[in-house]
Amino acid sequence: MTAIAVHGGAGAEAPGERDARRASVARAAEEGWAVLVAGGHALDAVIAAVAVLEDDPLFNAGLGSVLTVDGVVEMDASVMTGDTLEAGAVGAVTGVCSPVRLARAILVEGREVLLVGEPAQQLARRHGLATCAPEALITEEARRRWQERRAPGGETVGAVARDAAGHLAAATSTGGVTGKRRGRLGDSAVIGAGTYADDALGAGSATGPGEAIIRLCLVRSALDLLARGADAPRAAAESLATLQGRLGAAAGIVLLDPRGDVGVAHTTASMPAAYRRSSTAGTVVLD
Ligand code: GLY
Repeated sequence: MTAIAVHGGAGAEAPGERDARRASVARAAEEGWAVLVAGGHALDAVIAAVAVLEDDPLFNAGLGSVLTVDGVVEMDASVMTGDTLEAGAVGAVTGVCSPVRLARAILVEGREVLLVGEPAQQLARRHGLATCAPEALITEEARRRWQERRAPGGETVGAVARDAAGHLAAATSTGGVTGKRRGRLGDSAVIGAGTYADDALGAGSATGPGEAIIRLCLVRSALDLLARGADAPRAAAESLATLQGRLGAAAGIVLLDPRGDVGVAHTTASMPAAYRRSSTAGTVVLD
């Protein structure tokens, strides 16, 4: 089954942003779906979907990223493809319009899995990726949240996909948490914690407090539940219950099992999400 699932971050949303954020995750899922129906690879589909949300100021990724304690943007992103287990991730980058595309550049180069800061940013220019002044990524809302030390409406965006050839991929991108210290990396930069894909196991993208998600290797833990026989909705819910029970952290996750069945769960007030599968008509939008 061909499938894509997208999330726009677990958290508490401003009521006035609810509908617009759901429309955006649906649009992101449809962007990724278009890649899949054209015969594209799952990796290209998840990157297309996540890039839509990076460009949307309503989400904490790319444009609209939250600010560090010093009032600057530092973003993390990662991608993984389940056929070869190739992965790429960037941490604490700024002045790059699409961190998820930069993460793919790391994957394509194949030298490192995770590259941070200025050396990662330099790669953007080498790969012809769009760059901008770091301040261009700062929205008025992000500046207000920083001044008020207020949490964003949702942490992180991400997508998982299964293509027509049966290959899985996952991608995640974030501005991190408001008021973080410079140089802090969250789970979205860490393969196994915020992002993982293996054609034999499944694919997942997480959202929530990075330190807790890293300690539990949340996405990989959820895929292990799939391997032990749980279906995708149950693996998503159980992995979050463990995160809550062991570390007291609320979060969200989207999963695909190797057949393309979808699991979406969150233990926060809300998490906009959408999915589309070849077995169902149209895009399904979830709370
Ligand atoms: N999940 C986003 C972060 O903690 O950085």
